Amino acid sequence: MESHLKNHLMQQLIAEISLCRKCSLWKTRKNPVPGEGDINALVVFIGEAPGRWEDIEGKPFVGSAGDILNRILRKIGLSRGDIYITNLVKCRPPGNRDPHPSEIESCSSYLDRQLNIIKPKIILTLGRHSTSYMFSKVGLTFRSISEVQGKIYEAKLWGSKIHLVASYHPAAALYNMQLEKEIEASMKLVRDSINRVRES
Ligand code: URA
Ligand code: SF4
Repeated sequence: MESHLKNHLMQQLIAEISLCRKCSLWKTRKNPVPGEGDINALVVFIGEAPGRWEDIEGKPFVGSAGDILNRILRKIGLSRGDIYITNLVKCRPPGNRDPHPSEIESCSSYLDRQLNIIKPKIILTLGRHSTSYMFSKVGLTFRSISEVQGKIYEAKLWGSKIHLVASYHPAAALYNMQLEKEIEASMKLVRDSINRVRES
């Protein structure tokens, strides 16, 4: 798809999200957090839902989970400019509770449309909610994040071949160095996959 058409479709989607009242999270959000980054990126990162700082700024991963994410990206030679980053649910669940299944169901069509516009070759899911959602979308079995994280899965998304990698959520690494190592390993798989696509 042509870059300016992609841009137009994404702007339209962001405008829709800013007016959205499909689930009750609109009532307590300060700002919706549609996502940000390079819409021509080879890779899309998918988190769970905005937290406190994301809600205040309207941008994904700008709080402490974002700091961890940025630190790992830098360590492995990637930057936020190399990726598009968004969440499964676009408005903050009060008190950072887990999103309800009905909220995921209401909101996920926006993620689907973003993926359809960007058409990434690689998708990295952060945490069990977005992993479970994407695994079921491509017909893979998901039982637990610990079972599937740190591996590359080949899958088909709307007829195109993609690589799917799951990771623990960076917020889970706040108090656990070992998990940060595991997240780094998953992100290295993504980096190597990006480099292979760029070289091919
Ligand atoms: N956690 C998420 O899943 N997404 C964000 O944008 C921030 C924290
Ligand atoms: Fe709409 Fe999603 Fe926000 Fe719910 S979370 S109001 S579905 S944008």
